[in-house]
Amino acid sequence: MKLAELIAQTGEHEAVIQVLCHLLEAERTNVFLVKDFSDSVVKKTIEIINEYKKGIPLAYLLGNTYFYNRKFIVTPDVLVPRHDTEVLVELAEKKIIADSLIGNENSPYRILDLCCGSGVIGISLTYLCNWLHERHHDLTYEVVSADCSAAALEVATKNAALHNADITFVLSNLFEDVHGKFDLIVCNPPYVRTEDIGVEDKWVLKEPRIALDGGIDGLYFYRRILATAKEHLRTNGMIIFEIGYDQASALEQIAQKNGYHGVRVYKDLANRDRVVTIRV
Ligand SMILES: C[S@@+](CC[C@H](N)C(=O)[O-])C[C@H]1O[C@@H](n2cnc3c(N)ncnc32)[C@H](O)[C@@H]1O
Repeated sequence: MKLAELIAQTGEHEAVIQVLCHLLEAERTNVFLVKDFSDSVVKKTIEIINEYKKGIPLAYLLGNTYFYNRKFIVTPDVLVPRHDTEVLVELAEKKIIADSLIGNENSPYRILDLCCGSGVIGISLTYLCNWLHERHHDLTYEVVSADCSAAALEVATKNAALHNADITFVLSNLFEDVHGKFDLIVCNPPYVRTEDIGVEDKWVLKEPRIALDGGIDGLYFYRRILATAKEHLRTNGMIIFEIGYDQASALEQIAQKNGYHGVRVYKDLANRDRVVTIRV
């Protein structure tokens, strides 16, 4: 069967391409070059797409997804990493590079990925840290990733092994069991308003509620984290949060109320507010 026929038969475009990439272990462009897919590939693709249409995220059906151009293991114990979160990683990379260039005297430079889920943020940052360390051996880095879900940490640990990432994982209710101060805290906390969960997207209902539910106004975790984050940040430290598209001004208020400065808001590729950086 041809790709166009498979797409027409299933009524799904992007999902079909992702399934084919997975089944054939092929790059996207190579999938487009296949003239005819074998009966067994067509059968398997249709089976997976049928499950997907019932509301099961594709990443759970395939067991993995791509984040920041790298492949990560994903199970129903973790949130499916979103491309929007890559904006946070880019900003974190800029902060790490800037600090490294001005000769940050803290060694190791400490990074905390709070609410780490599958571990994608912290693991992505280790690539840059290793690159910088290879070029300047006096620059050393420590990445700590924390989550309150033991099941999520199990997935994150597997992802760290897959990417050869040296990360210290901590089972912790926010900062409770996280020790020491950090130069950078990155955090994509649960921030969906309780009543909004699954409203726009049925697949979200299969993700762990604990990864999504940000309380009545979605801001519960920002309030809790900003109440104590200062104690966990070194001088010149920064916290970078992912936020909901309509939460920027509320975040600025919470930050100011807790005595933080230099709050800046950044947009995602869809031009919606997506990340805030906050300085001590
Ligand atoms: C939105 S997900 C983010 C996962 C991952 N960082 C990402 O960007 O794909 C939020 C994560 O926060 C974790 N979490 C929820 N409540 C927490 C708490 N009190 N302490 C630590 N982690 C918590 C959830 O288990 C979940 O993994």
